[in-house]
Amino acid sequence: MTATPATSMTPTADGRPEMEGEVFWPAPEVVQHTIVPDWDALAQRADHDLEGFWAEQARELDWYTPWDKVLDESNKPFFKWFTGAKVNIVYNCLDRYMHTAIRNQVALIWEGEKGDSREISYAALNREVCRFANVLKGLGVAKGDRVTIYMGRVPEIAVAMLACAKLGAIHSVVYGGFSVDALAGRIDDSQSRLAITCDGAFLNGKIVQLKQIMDEALTRCPSIEHVVVVKRTGAGVAMQSGRDLWYHDLMADPAISDVCPTEVMDAEDPLYILYTSGTTGEPKAIVHTHGGYMVGIYATLKMVFDLHPEDRWWCAADPGWVTGHSYIVYSPLLNAATSLMYEGAPAFPQPDRWWALIEKYRISILYTAPTAIRGLMRFGDDWPGRHDLSSLRLLGTVGEPINPEAWKWYHRVIGHERCPIMDTWWQTETGMFMITPTPVVGLKPGSGTRPFFGLRAEILDEAGNPVPDGEEGYLVLLRPWPAMLRTVYQDPDRYVRQYWGRYPGKYVTGDSAKRDRDGYYWVIGRVDDVIKVSGYRLGTAEIESALVSHPAVAEAATIGLPHDVKGTAIHAYCILRQGETPSDALAAELREHVGRHMGPIAKPEAITFVDKLPKTRSGKIMRRVLKARALGLPEGDISTLEE
Ligand code: PRX
Repeated sequence: MTATPATSMTPTADGRPEMEGEVFWPAPEVVQHTIVPDWDALAQRADHDLEGFWAEQARELDWYTPWDKVLDESNKPFFKWFTGAKVNIVYNCLDRYMHTAIRNQVALIWEGEKGDSREISYAALNREVCRFANVLKGLGVAKGDRVTIYMGRVPEIAVAMLACAKLGAIHSVVYGGFSVDALAGRIDDSQSRLAITCDGAFLNGKIVQLKQIMDEALTRCPSIEHVVVVKRTGAGVAMQSGRDLWYHDLMADPAISDVCPTEVMDAEDPLYILYTSGTTGEPKAIVHTHGGYMVGIYATLKMVFDLHPEDRWWCAADPGWVTGHSYIVYSPLLNAATSLMYEGAPAFPQPDRWWALIEKYRISILYTAPTAIRGLMRFGDDWPGRHDLSSLRLLGTVGEPINPEAWKWYHRVIGHERCPIMDTWWQTETGMFMITPTPVVGLKPGSGTRPFFGLRAEILDEAGNPVPDGEEGYLVLLRPWPAMLRTVYQDPDRYVRQYWGRYPGKYVTGDSAKRDRDGYYWVIGRVDDVIKVSGYRLGTAEIESALVSHPAVAEAATIGLPHDVKGTAIHAYCILRQGETPSDALAAELREHVGRHMGPIAKPEAITFVDKLPKTRSGKIMRRVLKARALGLPEGDISTLEE
């Protein structure tokens, strides 16, 4: 391996490293009181002794049986972590606290969009998880079975995930903003036996008809035997007798016990699968495990956000994406902290909803996406100014590059220039934060700073040679990490090809990036067929297949173009079938069509009707050329273009 050791920088007279560009340093008291006050020392230690570093983290958690080996590299790239160990992540999230004072601490604060709220203690959460696990068992769910979860942001989504994990069943959460086609495809691929949903979800003052969408999807998914429905909106839904069951009825059954043994799992047993879009074709499911994943997310949240049990942590993502899995549900519980889940939209009923939540619950750390920051920034400084945000001590961002203007607004108006911003770069596949600051390092707006302890990154050119600092190239990772994906569900070849095929021995992220001379990384964006809309990861193939499922469309291509709030917006180019005429009405209809099939986030911003699409001689659409044309940029190498 080419070594890219932890960077150390030359200090100036005041003890701070001399660095290029604008740097924001934390106040001395922030540094003094953090869990890892000396970044360089730990970075060097972890770099020299990767296994020792992770073993130390793992020892802070409980294992039924300890591991024989921390990292098993005998079958690369199928790395294994903590082999031989027996564990269950739920034991560490809940069970182990039941004989300590933590049982009475609040695990989850939940606020509904309408203002209703719940505070659930660790003991109460454990009881609900045990009961629901017993319900699932009664419905025939066993270790290794897949369960699809398609719900709004309600506490029961966490209960459902934890109950599956407790039994060793593999959950497959599908984001509640997806619609029929996306849901059906994911249920079918996973061959889930059971689905858990809600009658509906409140969002922006409206109801998302989750159960209705589930019903439509299930007409194509014969593997599902039962659907458990959580009542949230109370709006009437059709319940299919024999198949559909109300959560509250099942849970109220006096025969259901409050006690449920936690299944003893191998560290490498799958915990969940999560679908995400990749380079080509249909979305694929990423596999995460009980052991390594648990250690990775535990240590990263603790060290990056300096998380303590007293913290009131708010990750404002959706539980349906990896951010919610790792950092709303599992890791805050592993760290015995209190996590807030908010059901609704950020600006509902008015633009200070989030700031009111921070004040009301005395949130100490807010973690969100650049798109949300830009969206709320548009409403001006007065809205946050009406609220006491003094409880905040750290801020975070994830999902896409943050533009320095939004970073500075977040820093000044929300963090009152006191709160360091942790810009965390990571992916569904990585499971945990990968390139990220900690509260003690100098921050440069727009950079995720350096790789987390024990990691090494490189920026390569097409041929696989590292590019000089300051130049753009392909971001790759050089060393394994415990929360890494283990494979692509039921498609190990794709795992090898997509992530390890291009540069042997190096994990390909799919992102382009630069490194500056201080060793700071600047992620630029995706270099594949993934579009990041408002931080949500969508595949061009899925949106295009929704478009061509409309009878008027013969062919479609989609690209992402810059957008002020969304970061990137979807632009679609459609060739119509013979006899169809382009019109604004048709464009509007196509947008709705995509919304109905894929989900509202996948609706194209604009649709352009064209007669031809740029293609390679082998028939692959050259989205790169479409993008260059739309932006008025040079088209680059077009030697493979068919025309
Ligand atoms: O392009 C990068 C971008 O989001 C991608 C991963 O998306 P997903 O799997 O949905 O996971 C998102 C949440 C972890 C990356 O390949 N990305 C994520 N975080 C950042 C980012 N780009 C720049 N800066 C970030 N902090």
